[in-house]
This record gives sequence, C-alpha cells and structure tokens, in this order.
Amino acid sequence: MTRLGATFHTELLLTCGLLLACFTLLYFSRQVGKQKSQPPKSQPLKAADHVNDGKYHLLLAATGSVATIKIPNILTALSKYDNLSIRLLLSESAAKFLQAQSGEQPSLDQTAKIKNVDGIYRDADEWRKPWVRGDPILHIELRRWADMMVIAPLSANSLATLALGLSDNLISSAARAWDTHNMIDLARPGITLPCGGKKVIIVAPAMNTAMWAHPVTSKHLDVLSREWGVEYGGWFEVLWPIDKGLACGDTGSGAMREWKEIVAAIETKFGLDQSREEALIQVALVKIDRARARGSPMADFTQEEADALRRMKANEKRIKVDETAVAKRLR
Ligand SMILES: Cc1cc2nc3c(=O)[nH]c(=O)nc-3n(C[C@H](O)[C@H](O)[C@H](O)COP(=O)(O)O)c2cc1C
Repeated sequence: MTRLGATFHTELLLTCGLLLACFTLLYFSRQVGKQKSQPPKSQPLKAADHVNDGKYHLLLAATGSVATIKIPNILTALSKYDNLSIRLLLSESAAKFLQAQSGEQPSLDQTAKIKNVDGIYRDADEWRKPWVRGDPILHIELRRWADMMVIAPLSANSLATLALGLSDNLISSAARAWDTHNMIDLARPGITLPCGGKKVIIVAPAMNTAMWAHPVTSKHLDVLSREWGVEYGGWFEVLWPIDKGLACGDTGSGAMREWKEIVAAIETKFGLDQSREEALIQVALVKIDRARARGSPMADFTQEEADALRRMKANEKRIKVDETAVAKRLR
C-alpha cells in the first residue's frame, strides 16, 4: 500500500468511527429523552378495592394552563391529612408543565412521591393494555372511586369540552361519566359527602384575559355554574378567576384563584381542617338555638355549615360551644 493509500485508509476509518460514535450518542440520548417523557407507572385501578379505606377520595385534575405549576403546592398542602387519598389526572398539555424544567415544576415522578398521591394518570393509561371483557375501564373506575373532582386549572379548551358534553380525553371522560343524579355510586362507610351527600366537581378556570373576555367563555360557564351548578341542584361549582398580571404578560381577569383558596375549598368540602370544621359547627349550633328561641323550626345555615353538621352527626361527635366566639362571628 502506498503512503497516500494508507493515509486515506486511516482517515476513512476515523470518519467511520466518528460517525458510529455520533449515531450511538444520538440513539442513547433519544432513549433517555423517551424515558423522561414517560409518565410514572400507575397501577390498574379498581374502585371496589378502596371502598373501605376510611379516606376521602380526591380526583385532582389539571388541564393545559400555566397554572398547572401550582399543582405541587396544592398537593404538598394536602399531604398533612392522613384521611385523604389523591389521584392526579393530567391532560397532555398539562403534563408539559411538570417536566422538572424548574424548581417549582418538578417531574411527574417527583410529584408522585408527595404523600397522599396514590396515582397519576394520563390519557395513555386508558389504553395501557388491550381491553378485554372484565377489565376495569379507567375513567369509570376513577369516577366510582372519587368523592369529589377538582379541575384546577381548567383551560378554555377543557371548559368548552365540558360544557359541550364532549369526552375526548381521560379528564373529560371521567367528568362526562359523573353520577350527576346521585343514583349509581353507593355511599361509602364513614364518608359524608358535601352538598347534602353529593359528589361534586369543582373547577377553577385559568386563561389569558382575552380568552376570558371572549363571549363564548360566559356561555360555557353559564352551563357549568347555572344549568349544572350546585346552587341550582346540580353538581358543578366554579371558583371564579381573579384579576392579576398573567404569566403571558397581559393584566386582567382570567387568572386561576390562588392555590391556597383551592386547598381551602377542598378542606371545607371534606371537613379536613378541624379548627374550621369546629367553627362551622359552633355557628350552626348557635343558629339552631336562636331559631328555637324564635319558635322557628328552620335555622338559616350556609351549605358549609349544613355539611359540617351532617359530618358531626355521622361521626357522633360532641362539640362544646364557645358562645362568645360564635356571637362575634354572627354579629
Ligand atoms: C405555555 C402555554 C401556556 C398556556 N396557558 C394557557 C392558559 O393559561 N389557559 C388556557 O386556557 N390555555 C392555555 N394554553 C393553551 C392550552 O394549553 C391549549 O389550548 C390546549 O389545547 C389545552 O388542552 P387541554 O384543555 O386538553 O389541557 C397555553 C399554552 C401554552 C403553550
């Protein structure tokens, strides 16, 4: 072989080696990328296995708004309750906000480790295994399992989906399969449901101010808050957005309610916060006394007070009334 030929040979070998190394690197980085975007493994759910666990079952869902980054805060705040079990549902857009891209946006694997999070589900989980007769159907099992569903944030797209009765992903299928007339799901021992024994869906819309101001938004919200609203005998409750500077730079209405208010709504509905629960009961008991003194058979309770009273009766709890504190609240 000539010197020229040998040099050419070496260069060819080097180029091939370099190309091979590049392909190997590319292949492995894609594999790592794929693993990163995989949702954490969720076990197949059978609601019947959890009927007697003595815990309140919260189906917490997030759809594709920036406010999804508040989900870890909500979960962490709720992790202090031993009698609460949470299953988190994420739309495909929502999941994009929790990929460990910043300190306040942990990965789904990290999110799954927060206490009380007993499962994280995404659309693909519905079809994880080819369905055969007898297999559980995830969105139905989630509905059966849940005592309450909270969709926070609720995007403009998911708001429209719910209001139109569409069911094209896991979250909307669970909401569409809701037991709207309280006729299908049986009461669970030791669990007193809010709103007179109902399974409710609470939504916290979150969107850009222009999206919020679009005329179609109020049409869709009207369906949820009036046609299907708890106040009108239905099963939906809307936590109305607030005005503030939005993540996109616009200022105005459409921002999701503060995450602490969402936590407070969950605590109140399930009666998780004992001091608040006792305060509600005390007020209700004093209202009963005052009604009796007036000779009236009816006391004017708020829904929260009525729920707290029902829970007290169901748990056969005795509460000492602090007359002075209650009088101050009732003034
Ligand atoms: C970075 C980013 C932020 C977004 N924030 C919102 C938002 O706050 N509210 C909203 O309604 N849509 C928002 N969108 C658009 C939704 O993600 C989009 O409409 C999506 O289809 C919603 O799907 P989903 O309702 O199934 O989650 C955002 C999109 C991006 C890329």
